[in-house]
Amino acid sequence: TEFQLLKNAQPTAENVREAIKADPGFGNHFTDHMAHVRYTREQGWHAHSVRPYGKIVLDPAAAVFHYAQEIFEGLKAYRHADGSVWTFRPQKNAARINISAARLALPEISEEDFVGSLRALVEQDVEWVPTPASAADEVSLYLRPFMIASETFLGVRASHEVDYYVIASPAGAYFPGGVEPVSIWLSQNYKRASHGGTGFAKAGGNYAASLAAGEQAAAKGCAQVLFTDAAEDKYIEELGGMNLMLVTREGKLLTPELGDSILDGVTRRSLLELAPQLGLEPEERRIPIEEWREGAASGEITEAFACGTAAVITPIGRLVSEDFTIDHGDQPGEYSMKLRTTLLDIQYGRTADINNWMVRL
Ligand code: COI
Repeated sequence: TEFQLLKNAQPTAENVREAIKADPGFGNHFTDHMAHVRYTREQGWHAHSVRPYGKIVLDPAAAVFHYAQEIFEGLKAYRHADGSVWTFRPQKNAARINISAARLALPEISEEDFVGSLRALVEQDVEWVPTPASAADEVSLYLRPFMIASETFLGVRASHEVDYYVIASPAGAYFPGGVEPVSIWLSQNYKRASHGGTGFAKAGGNYAASLAAGEQAAAKGCAQVLFTDAAEDKYIEELGGMNLMLVTREGKLLTPELGDSILDGVTRRSLLELAPQLGLEPEERRIPIEEWREGAASGEITEAFACGTAAVITPIGRLVSEDFTIDHGDQPGEYSMKLRTTLLDIQYGRTADINNWMVRL
């Protein structure tokens, strides 16, 4: 489907745009356009456009404001040395938005429309895609597709009108310290997700459910919160906005197995697939928090890191809780950094993409 182009008559001045790209932070600045597709029960998906970035006008009774019928995705556009712009495994995000849509009673969107919307927006705002200054640099254009229930109706049922948008934001490291190890807080009184719930979906509500715990984490000087399972309060699940992995002395890359309370992260999946080439054996299973605690103390578990599209790989220096602390030190782990470099080299086109993960935009 063609995306109709409505050009922004007041684009950001070039010097302002270049200053933003030079020091973007995460999630602070947005490009000149956004992609939009409208859905109604009668017409399905229609009115594909790329239009000026700007306010969305909704009725105060729009369903999304009341019942949180919303889902989103996150992926990045990377500039390669020859100037070309690529994204990473967008088919995975297309598949996942539809898994999220099914759970939140939102309409499915085709892979063609999903990838087409990214392509149409990036084509229009290609000057906003930053160029990394070095191989250690992780600047990119973060792409944020999202879908909202926009019907004006206060009854509790699936909305008959939905809007899908993609916005784009030049982004550096998610955490202000870059690859400096972060401290994370173990939430003992709040849970993020439970069996039968929405934890596996990329729904805004899951992130809302993590925020109070995130505030507690921040009060303890921690950058993220770790949740355990809701049933037994025993197993590691995920962080407020990313997955978690451990490395063992025996060379295992350990991460909690997927279930309906854990997000099937694209970075998570990719690292598990890359592990063997670094001599690591991937292992997905339930991991008791006690195993991490004892393993870190005995030297059996040597590294821990957070992983996600936004976080890439961020080493975890400490896990802090009311009762105990797990300490991995203030230096990034060897395998954490090797995995990180391997992934970034693929994404920035510095190494052969033998898995065909990159898609040119
Ligand atoms: C991601 O894109 O990695 C997310 O999950 C979203 C958020 C943590 C910024």
